[in-house]
Amino acid sequence: MLSKVIIPVAGLGTRVLPASKAIPKEMLPVVDKPVIQHVVEEAMRAGFRQIVLVTRSGKEAIENHFDANYELEQMLALKNKRALLDAVENTLPRGIEVISVRQPSAKGLGHAVLCAAHVVGNDDFAVMLPDMVIDDEGLACDFAEMVKRYQKNGAGQIMVEGVPEEHVDRYGIVDCGGTALKPGMGAPIKGMVEKPKREEAPSNQAIVGRYILPNRVMELLKTTAPGAGGEIQLTDAMLKLLSEQSMEAFSMRGTIYDCGNKAGLLEANLAFGLKHPETGDALRQFIKSKKL
Ligand code: G1P
Repeated sequence: MLSKVIIPVAGLGTRVLPASKAIPKEMLPVVDKPVIQHVVEEAMRAGFRQIVLVTRSGKEAIENHFDANYELEQMLALKNKRALLDAVENTLPRGIEVISVRQPSAKGLGHAVLCAAHVVGNDDFAVMLPDMVIDDEGLACDFAEMVKRYQKNGAGQIMVEGVPEEHVDRYGIVDCGGTALKPGMGAPIKGMVEKPKREEAPSNQAIVGRYILPNRVMELLKTTAPGAGGEIQLTDAMLKLLSEQSMEAFSMRGTIYDCGNKAGLLEANLAFGLKHPETGDALRQFIKSKKL
């Protein structure tokens, strides 16, 4: 059973301050949708129907975004602004459910995932990190491909991408025993380590924030001690799982933008803005006229 995706949104967003001082970083826009909506739409493309937000105080705007706004909807209906009304009503399409749970203290990604254990019950589940926006337009959806692979053999799936060697200490890094992973390829994982030093990294294949995980990970998280950065790491629990069952890395084909930092957010806005029917031409003209 795989229908729930956990999206931890309790982070403070320090890398995009001061923009995230009074609004959640997940609500910063990429063109005309907040970052979190891009992520939820990707979850839907992969077939997920239940979104479990792990949140904290001060981040209510995320839940409000996926709720009805009666006043606004009534006003748009009265004025017959059909397209805007559709956009507002469809932030959460029919059949999709958003459930939210709280993370009472910032103890790391593993701890955030464990906060959703009672909602997940005995099911296997997915995890998506909300900073990461993936552009897979014109390609098959990478996350949907991971679901397919999981459904074939039951193995946990982790999306990865090759990163420059000097950046391996920013990520969880997987060891696929020397397999040269090409985009669209999967391979069995032999080991993994959270934020290794460059000289200790087993490869340059970085975990990018999309996971399909067997329920057993929840059990393992309960006894996972704080690791890198003093936080309870999902990577450490997955490493324990690996000693019990096989897991696979899937090398993504799309383009990923880390919208949790300023440059990534701007790059996403530029890339999506150039493709958007309402902004593409104006943006191209601006770039040309200013010789950017
Ligand atoms: C988390 C994960 C890490 C992953 C990264 C992707 O780290 O723990 O394995 O590579 O997200 O952004 P964080 O960025 O939260 O420190």
